[in-house]
Amino acid sequence: MTSSPIATLLLDWYADHARVLPWRVPPGGEAPADHVYRVWLSEVMLQQTTVAAVRPRFEAWVERWPSAADLAAASEEQVMAAWAGLGYYARARNLVKAAREVAGRGGFPTTEAELRELPGLGDYTAAAIAAIGFGEDAVPVDANVERVVARLFAIDEPLPKARKAIRENARAVWPRGRAGDFAQAMMDLGSSICTARDPKCLLCPLRAHCAGYAMGEPERLPVKPPK
Ligand code: ADE
Repeated sequence: MTSSPIATLLLDWYADHARVLPWRVPPGGEAPADHVYRVWLSEVMLQQTTVAAVRPRFEAWVERWPSAADLAAASEEQVMAAWAGLGYYARARNLVKAAREVAGRGGFPTTEAELRELPGLGDYTAAAIAAIGFGEDAVPVDANVERVVARLFAIDEPLPKARKAIRENARAVWPRGRAGDFAQAMMDLGSSICTARDPKCLLCPLRAHCAGYAMGEPERLPVKPPK
């Protein structure tokens, strides 16, 4: 494994502070047999819904349909009804379609590029499943990662132009061999410490490496698109 100091510090922080979430394998833990199914389902649910709202729905879902093959055997009506209240119903339709493709081919595709072909998976979700589900060296960049990286490197171009620099800097610090833990550590840091409006820099394990903190006003970053 090659690691930047940022990766080492954040992974050490994550070892002590990782949120306990029903789809998550604790750092250093053993993945269960249905791990990829659970990661896929959680990432689709989390695309437009908060962790707090997803948690009970995820648990009920995996109780009812514990594998992609079980979900593939459900009717679209059953799945749509089980999705009620989560919103963005195209996600539920794509979930059944993808489960049937996965069941038909005898398992999830294992690379980021192949995952991207499944219904309902965009760049971020495919990279998240590759990294968290399969341990591939993929770099999932969601709004949390965007914010943390823009601040770490004081990237002050406005979005969406800043995305190229954010992605390049993210790739440069992402540790090979620990991509999934690092992604989840970034999400936890972004939701608890490096928050959008009120970053708690004094608690941040990356403060000494953060150009945004050094410059002052890290909460200005990333810069919103001009109106
Ligand atoms: N948001 C999107 N994916 C997530 C994950 N795996 N853990 C926590 N928050 C998330």
